[in-house]
Amino acid sequence: MEQKVFVTRNIPSPGIDLLKKHISRVDIFPYERPITKRELLEVIENYNGLLCLLTDTVDADVLKKGKNLKIVSNYAVGYNNIDIDTASRLNILVTNTPGILTDATADLTWALILGTARRIREADTFTRENKFNGWSPTLFLGLPVANKTLGIIGAGRIGTAVGIRACGFSMKILYTSNHTNSTLENKANAKKVPLNTLLKKSDIISLHVPLTTQTVHMIGDKEFAIMKDSAIIINTSRGPVIDEEALVKALKSGKIAGAGLDVYENEPVVEKELTELPNTLLLPHIGSATGETREKMAAIAAENIIAALSGKRPKYIVNPEVFRE
Ligand code: GLV
Ligand code: GLV
Repeated sequence: MEQKVFVTRNIPSPGIDLLKKHISRVDIFPYERPITKRELLEVIENYNGLLCLLTDTVDADVLKKGKNLKIVSNYAVGYNNIDIDTASRLNILVTNTPGILTDATADLTWALILGTARRIREADTFTRENKFNGWSPTLFLGLPVANKTLGIIGAGRIGTAVGIRACGFSMKILYTSNHTNSTLENKANAKKVPLNTLLKKSDIISLHVPLTTQTVHMIGDKEFAIMKDSAIIINTSRGPVIDEEALVKALKSGKIAGAGLDVYENEPVVEKELTELPNTLLLPHIGSATGETREKMAAIAAENIIAALSGKRPKYIVNPEVFRE
């Protein structure tokens, strides 16, 4: 049977090559920008498989219009851009690309931790602006990281990798999770605590939860109020987990000391006030952005589609209840 796959953006060649080898027709959205929902609605009916990005809205309208769709393969670990309940109801498989981007994202989380604590962005700008007139006892005093307490909210794969890296900094590690994380406890001597305890005791707080109806705005006014005034918050998960208005308030009033962000509440819009504050380090959602990782993600996203369209079980299914041999 002829299978048709639509790819919403040109992804690294290992993914495209695999698709072209196994699927009779592969169409790629030709522009270097996210596809709009309207554009997706116009074409989706023609395809059996969709390979999409975290910037694409695959909601009930799109899924219902995709009458021939068997699989939606997200080129990401997070899948909050897809209406999973509707997909399951319509018997459409949804897959993602976990695991391979864990190290890249944990590394970037650490870049944000150190960069925010030690004011790397401000200091670099100062140097480039030829303001460096010699060593000074008070130039860019930052916050210590080694021997401090790291609070990991959401100890999945990425949170665990962030915690294990913290051992090199002799940090005390607290975490919240629905489950005991024995890897983190054994390898990093981490302790599972209630959220409020973590917020109260941590010097650095790092978010690693998926975006769901339970986690949206899980950090807001009330949570910032509990934190230490010297705390810094790091977010490499999804923007809406933090109430950004509350974050701006906490940063401006000195309720917390800094924020390192890779994701934003209204991405790609970055709250202007965040860009005007000195104590923020702001990145454009590049957690998984290494060439190696993006190539592996492309291959896995393609393999997930190829498996599904040949009746095999894809490796990473988000809604396994849909799969039947
Ligand atoms: C990136 O944010 C991802 O979910 O892969
Ligand atoms: C993502 O891979 C996670 O489980 O944190």
